[in-house]
Parts: sequence; structure tokens; C-alpha cells
Amino acid sequence: MAEKIKSVYICSECAYESAKWFGKCPGCGQWNTMSEELRESFSKSRTASVVRSRPTAEPVPITEISTEDEFRYFTGSKELDRVLGGGIVKGSLVLLGGDPGIGKSTILLQICSHLGKILKILYISGEESRRQIKLRAARLGVNCENLFILTETDVQAVADRIQSEKPDLVMIDSIQTMNFKELSSSPGSVTQVRECTNILMRTSKSLDIPCIIVGHVNKDGAIAGPKVLEHIVDAVLYFEGDKQMSYRILRAVKNRYGSTNEIGVFCMGDKGLAEVENPSLMLLSGRPKNVSGTCVACSMEGSRPILAEIQGLVTNSGYGNARRMSTGFDYNRMSMLLAVLEKRCGYYFSSLDAYVNVIGGLRLDEPAADLAVSLALVSSLKDIVVPEDLMAFGEVGLTGEIRAVSHAALRVTEAARLGFTRCILPWHNIKGLNLPQDAGIEVIGVRTIRDAVQALNR
Ligand code: TYD
Ligand code: MG
Repeated sequence: MAEKIKSVYICSECAYESAKWFGKCPGCGQWNTMSEELRESFSKSRTASVVRSRPTAEPVPITEISTEDEFRYFTGSKELDRVLGGGIVKGSLVLLGGDPGIGKSTILLQICSHLGKILKILYISGEESRRQIKLRAARLGVNCENLFILTETDVQAVADRIQSEKPDLVMIDSIQTMNFKELSSSPGSVTQVRECTNILMRTSKSLDIPCIIVGHVNKDGAIAGPKVLEHIVDAVLYFEGDKQMSYRILRAVKNRYGSTNEIGVFCMGDKGLAEVENPSLMLLSGRPKNVSGTCVACSMEGSRPILAEIQGLVTNSGYGNARRMSTGFDYNRMSMLLAVLEKRCGYYFSSLDAYVNVIGGLRLDEPAADLAVSLALVSSLKDIVVPEDLMAFGEVGLTGEIRAVSHAALRVTEAARLGFTRCILPWHNIKGLNLPQDAGIEVIGVRTIRDAVQALNR
């Protein structure tokens, strides 16, 4: 019987499907991401036939399931292991997302240089030729006999090859180049990307082989982004950071085998990605001295306190309506802080342009950064210099009160370790602080934002 072919519109960001086209996706609200795909009502058995050695599962009583720790491979990079929750779990599917050119292929090869000594690795690339990969590997000093390069885009051939070769680790670079021949849509479309991942998942789960899949993040909706796959895979890691700058932050947004708020910090150099063991030091290097409009905050990234410089700039507005811009800090939160400073402290920003920037490409989503952002803005407005040995953290409430935050002691200790001698923090945090006598840092507890500004002048 002839197969029915119907046309559907699918969002490349969130995979929302609809029978008609929308300019704005009703699922995720993104503009211009819906594209037409032909959807054959092909039977699932065809996909299943690709994975031949799939065992049929038996129900097992929960009491008989072993609770031993999952077997993990250490990647040789402490930062990456931390983000993964302690290494790559056997049989897991990890999605590594990020903008093109951010360093995804580089980190894969670097993992190979360590794990290739003990494991058989199959690196499947649909993007680069063998020669290109070899040249890069040579530059990164990767040369191990157990690393096999396969340039292939047909996902069925890839699945067959995984079954015949039985490697210990598979890498796919990238999922957007993989192609399932049974589907008529072009590689990179939502249907293709989803179906190819499903095939790879079934192959890797049935053989208990871990698989790392690279997915490009794209802004124009022409190819499906990694968001479409987040629910299929076990862990989703995103590479963030400015391509122009050398810092790269690896963040876990989903992890079935570990915590999701850990980050790994890397620095791109001529020998590939190097780990940054002391991110605070890196983020604070090159800080301007004796100028207004900058304040250091401390944010908890998972179990790690990280110090970051926040800059604020307040200037006369050239046009009628004031401009607000925020990089690395939530825009709405910045507007709220400006409103609190205006209403509760009498600092007038309404006719002024205000900018906030977190240095080093870091994104601070913790309310604990509120106080430092407010101080940076007031410092720029009033031209008061925040002393360079002072750090501030605390959540700002709508009445201008400073609210307690978690992990105060860890934050203060990290600041002391990096040579800060004063710290402004919520008054309610002082009680539970229990700092050692020789901590070498003076803590200043404040109840309101007004107190905090006054503390600057002490
Ligand atoms: P790449 O890993 O190819 O990015 P992706 O796979 O995410 O698209 O990284 C490419 C960028 O990294 C490229 O702009 C060059 C830079 N790079 C270095 O600066 N040093 C190096 O040692 C390597 C391998 C790449
Ligand atoms: Mg690449």
C-alpha cells in the first residue's frame, strides 16, 4: 500500500508540531522557527529493524535490582568529570550542545587522548574529513591506536558499525549531520535528528556502550537544536561563553546521574581546552582599580563559590526613553533593582541609561548577586569607588531589605582566600557564619540597601 505523506510544521527549538504554519511558535514562543517537514506514516517496525540484537526485557522485582554504583569512566578532565557527576556512566547517552566553533569537537578529541589509552573509541564524524580530524588530533597531541575514526552520515550504517565493532565508547559529531534514509526530510530537520538519536540510543543501550552526541545550537531555526533531544538523552551539557574570549563554561542542564548545577571552566588555547582550576582568579584578573561602577559578587555554582566582577554604568540618556541593558544578569531583575533603588533609596535612574555586565561571560542567576549589582549601579551613579578589597552578596527585596542567602560561610571563605579583606553580607547571615578567628576578613552585616551603600563610605 502506498504510504501516506502529510506535511507538518515543526519548531526547530522545541519540536512543537502543528498542521499549519505559525510565525511565532505556540510551544516555546520563539519567532521564525517553524519549518515544513514531510511526515510519512512509516511503521515503527522499520526503525526497530535497524537495531537487530535488541533483547526483550523481562520485568524484575525491585528487590532484586542491584544498587551498586554505576560504572563510570573518568574522562581525564576534572572539570568535565565534575559536570558529568563523576565520569561517563556506562551505557549513558550524553548530549553536548553549544554554538558552532565553541570547542565541542576539541573536547571530544581531548577525552580520546586520555580514554584512548584504556578503551576502544569509535569517533564518528559527519562534519570533517579524516585528514582534518587527524590534523587537529596531531595539534592536540592525540595519537592512540585505540581511537578509530569513521566518517559516515548514514545512521543505519553507524548503528551497524557500532554493533560489529563493539567499541567501549562512541562519539557522534554531530547529530545534525546524521541521516536516516527511511525519512525523506533533510538531515538536521527535527524528524531526522529525533529519529537518528532514537536509533543511536537503542543501539548504545542494548550494548551498554556510552555515547556522546554533539548537537549544534543554532539561532535561525534552519536546523533542529539540541533542545529537541533533551528528553531522550540521559545528560545534557552545554558549552557557553564568548567565542571571542578564551573562557568556556560547561554547564549541565540535565543529568540523570548527578547534580545539574555544577559547572566546569575551561580556557581555549593553542593546545586545545585547558582546565581552569581557580575560576575566581581568572574572572577577577585585569580588574580596573580605583574606578567607580564595579563590584565583586560571589555566586554559588553547584558546590563551588565563584567570585565575579559586576560592572554597572549609568549615563545621561541621549534620547527620550532611557535604555537598559544587561549581560550575564537577568534583565527583569535588573529593572526591579533599579526600581527598588529609586523608590527606597532615592537614587533616580528613570531618565538615565543603565547597563550591567558580568565580566568573563559568566551568567549569574542567583538572587545573591542582587546586592553587588545594586552597589555597582549606585557606585556608577554617584561616582563612589567600591574598595577593591570588598566583596558583597545578598538578595534585595522589594522593600529594600537585604535577605539572607545560602552558603554564606563558603562565600566569605572564598573571598578571604583570594585576598579580600571586607565583605558586605545580609545581617541575618552573620549569626550562622562561624568563621575562624584568623579568617582575615571583616564581615559587615547590613539590613537594607541603604546600609550597604553607607558601608561603602566607611
Ligand atoms: P571546535 O572544537 O571545532 O568547535 P565545534 O566542534 O564546537 O564547532 O573548535 C573550533 C575553535 O577552537 C576554532 O575556532 C579554533 C579553536 N581552537 C583553538 O583555539 N585551539 C585549539 O587547539 C583547537 C583545536 C581549536
Ligand atoms: Mg565540530
